Amino acid sequence: MEPREFFIEERLESYRNSCFCNLGESGFHAYRLEEIMDFANVSGEELGKLTLNDSPNRGGNELREEISKLYPGVGADEVLVTTGTSEALYLAFHLLLKKGDRLAIYWPAFQALYEIPEMLGAEILRIPVDKKLNSKDWENVDADLYVLNQPHNPTGAGFSSGDWEDLKQILRKKEKPVLFDEHYRFLDFDSDLGKTGVSTKDRFYGTGSFTKCMGVTGLRVGWLIADKEFVNRARSFKDYLTHTVSPISEKLALGLLKNRSRFLPEIKKEVKENLSFFYDSLSRLTDITEFSQVSGGLVGWAKLKRGISSEEYADLLMKKTGVFVLPGSNFEEEGFLRIGFGEKKERFREGIERWTECSPLL
Ligand SMILES: Cc1ncc(COP(=O)(O)O)c(C=O)c1O
Repeated sequence: MEPREFFIEERLESYRNSCFCNLGESGFHAYRLEEIMDFANVSGEELGKLTLNDSPNRGGNELREEISKLYPGVGADEVLVTTGTSEALYLAFHLLLKKGDRLAIYWPAFQALYEIPEMLGAEILRIPVDKKLNSKDWENVDADLYVLNQPHNPTGAGFSSGDWEDLKQILRKKEKPVLFDEHYRFLDFDSDLGKTGVSTKDRFYGTGSFTKCMGVTGLRVGWLIADKEFVNRARSFKDYLTHTVSPISEKLALGLLKNRSRFLPEIKKEVKENLSFFYDSLSRLTDITEFSQVSGGLVGWAKLKRGISSEEYADLLMKKTGVFVLPGSNFEEEGFLRIGFGEKKERFREGIERWTECSPLL
């Protein structure tokens, strides 16, 4: 009962602090604490007055209220605050899966979404992503648990709004639990807040966070949305893991969620500008033959010319230019690169320029 190495983490640990331009990360570049306090409308005095006792095990009431507002029809007692989305996923998989169950998921995928299930003895059914996510992909799939990550990591692909209701209809007919990992919901390119698939009465559960989208990954706050009974079980399990989330993180998280309209549009603008700069540079990045349609979030998926090893490519790119990208091999899919769009605008542009100047690289 031990998961394999978390492939992307090894590489992120090695390069995130030494690279010139970080396109390996899947989050927006990090803000300083003073900036975060300003965004969250939390003063130094208020922070200073916090007592560092344990927060409530299921998360502070106000924070759960605020999170529940993101999900139509969901109440605060259907929210469990967790240490990142990772913990919410870990809890959900343990409670939803037993040995021999089949889990269906888009492929490639964020490793925690299939590695933990595999560790628990589940069989993974891989549904290939073909440019866009499409409800029809799920029509003939038969599994015990369906995992839908949208906007999708690593491809950035999403469902169209028109197709979303069809997807839910298809999934409802299966009468099995569904886990929507909506980690990038705050960076939907077509609306203020991306769509959610959560419907607790249908056992359509959700995991989420805002930390990557808002440049505050160090806060380590996430959540699980499920019916009350399920949340109670998950809370009890969580007591053996992280137990509670720091009151400092909770305080800032609440402020950020409440005040997000003050700063999130600016973040989205910067991400979109990076993305369009990348699209405009694609013809000069001659080793890339295709690039995914990014509908939201902070990452995209680039196809390399046939025969290029993604790891060799990522290593050489880093060595020659200081530009750090993740090789597809870290997602167990050869011939691709994952590109992140959360780097600071100037660095992003300089990094892409350096990359184009030495293309073709091999
Ligand atoms: C799709 C997806 N789910 C979950 C996570 C884990 O999130 P957290 O850092 O909040 O634990 C990530 C992190 O990149 C992710 O991309």
